[in-house]
Formats: sequence, structure tokens, C-alpha cells
Amino acid sequence: MNIFFIKCFIKHYLTSTFIDVLHSPFVFNLYQTCIKKQNDKNELNEIEFCRNELLKDNKVIKYIDFGAGSNLLNNKINKKVKEIANSHLKPKRIAHIIYYIILNFKVKNVIELGTSLGITSSYIAQALKNNYKSNEVNFTTIEGVNEVKEIANIQFKKLHLSDYIHSIEGNFNTELHEVLKKYKSVDVFFVDGNHTYEATMNYFNLALPYSHNDSIFIFDDIYWSKGMTKAWEEIKNNSKVLQTVDLFFIGLVLFRSEQKSQHFKLRVT
Ligand SMILES: C[S@@+](CC[C@H](N)C(=O)[O-])C[C@H]1O[C@@H](n2cnc3c(N)ncnc32)[C@H](O)[C@@H]1O
Repeated sequence: MNIFFIKCFIKHYLTSTFIDVLHSPFVFNLYQTCIKKQNDKNELNEIEFCRNELLKDNKVIKYIDFGAGSNLLNNKINKKVKEIANSHLKPKRIAHIIYYIILNFKVKNVIELGTSLGITSSYIAQALKNNYKSNEVNFTTIEGVNEVKEIANIQFKKLHLSDYIHSIEGNFNTELHEVLKKYKSVDVFFVDGNHTYEATMNYFNLALPYSHNDSIFIFDDIYWSKGMTKAWEEIKNNSKVLQTVDLFFIGLVLFRSEQKSQHFKLRVT
């Protein structure tokens, strides 16, 4: 068990704000419409059905650990799909928050770093599909492990979401730069892989020029390690970042010039 993570969790619990003491209309609205638990929808239950199937899948694949501190040449291991589904995917509660952000803020241009088996990508694509035709949106998700990406693509087909997702295989370190060139601006940038200080700051700095007033950057696992927390603090202090919402498991970064600069810590209940 990661002691640093547990200490941070306790600190967050003691210092986070209840919604009734929030003084920002935008963040209050964000809380009410995206962060607070919403009613279950059938289309989301279908994605959860796919997750449950993956959680039972005994197929063994060749897995390469692209994540923090790995040595790509020596780390090919056999892994069961169900093990990946159990440990890598955002839980339903967090995936719901991302879904409602994309849906309610009528987001069109999205980049996700870390497709894995495609569960959160499916939430993102479903929210895009609810608002737009496929040729009106631009959603790219990047994954380093080919066999994992192929399984994600099967989920996208099953859920009739393939038209909404551009799925790329490759290392974020080389692909992100190329992907960004195809975007004029990015509405939602979701970083969910390679949780090191250096990588996180690199991805943030690459995407920053593509942010606009209404962009939302989402960083996963901001308290996973001292390095990730250092990156989160540095991102909060960047002069282009005007508001942040710390939900402990993920951090939201906002650039809204019409509001005063503020940093919130909220509890996901
Ligand atoms: C936590 S999982 C993503 C989970 C997914 N977003 C979800 O919630 O359904 C992170 C993924 O990022 C991939 N990854 C990590 N570092 C990477 C890198 N530098 N380049 C490419 N893929 C990477 C891993 O292979 C892993 O599948």
C-alpha cells in the first residue's frame, strides 16, 4: 500500500470543501451537473456491461509496461485481460464525471492519453455522440500496447462508437506532439498514463498552447506519488491556469478569465 497516497487522502478528506460553501457559480454548476452523482442512464449501463465482461476475460496477452519508471526493452510480460481491467480502468464514478463534463459542456475536441481497454474512451465517445454527428467532433486516444488497443477497438465496435474515436498506437512521448498538430484547439485533455513528474509536465506543456478559455484539462492520480503531486502543484501555479478543482482521484484544470483565480478541493461522494 502506498503510504504517501493514504496520507494525501486523509489530508484531502480533512481539507476539502462541501458544496454549500462554494463561492464560484461556475464551479457550483460544474459540481451540480457533472461531479455530483447523477441518475444512471441505459447507454452507460451498456459500457459497464462491457467492463464486467472484461473483468471476467481470462485471455492472456503480451503486455508491455509503458508506465512510470519502466524499461521498455525488458518488461514484456504475460497478463490476463481481467487483471488489466481490474487495475487500470477508471472506476465508474470517475468515468461518469468525465462523461458529464463532455456532455454538459458540449465539448467537441478531446485527446485522451491512455486508452487501455477503452472503457473511459467509450464514456467520452458516448457523450460526444449524444451531442454531435461523428464528423463534427475530434477525439483521439493513444495507447502504447498494441494488444490492449485492439481489445479497446472491439469494445468501441460493440458499443457502436467506432466512428467517434480515432484510436492510435504509440508512445505518448512521440505521438502527442503529432496528434496536437492536427488540432486547432483542445477542449478536454485527459492524461491517464505515465504518471511521472517529468512526463506529466511534458504533456501539460505540449498541450497548453492548445487550451482556450473553456478548456478543461484532466489529470489522473495527482496524489499517486510525490512526483505527481509536485507536477499538480506546478500546474496549479502556472500563470495560464486560472482555476483548479481537486477531486483527489483526478484534478481539473480551468482557464476561465471571466472568473477570479481560485483553487478548490471537493469531495467525490
Ligand atoms: C490507467 S490506463 C488508462 C485507463 C483508461 N483511460 C480508462 O480509464 O479506461 C493507462 C494506459 O496508458 C498506457 N501508457 C502509459 N504510458 C504510456 C506511454 N508513455 N505511451 C503510450 N501508452 C502509455 C498504458 O499502457 C495503459 O494502458
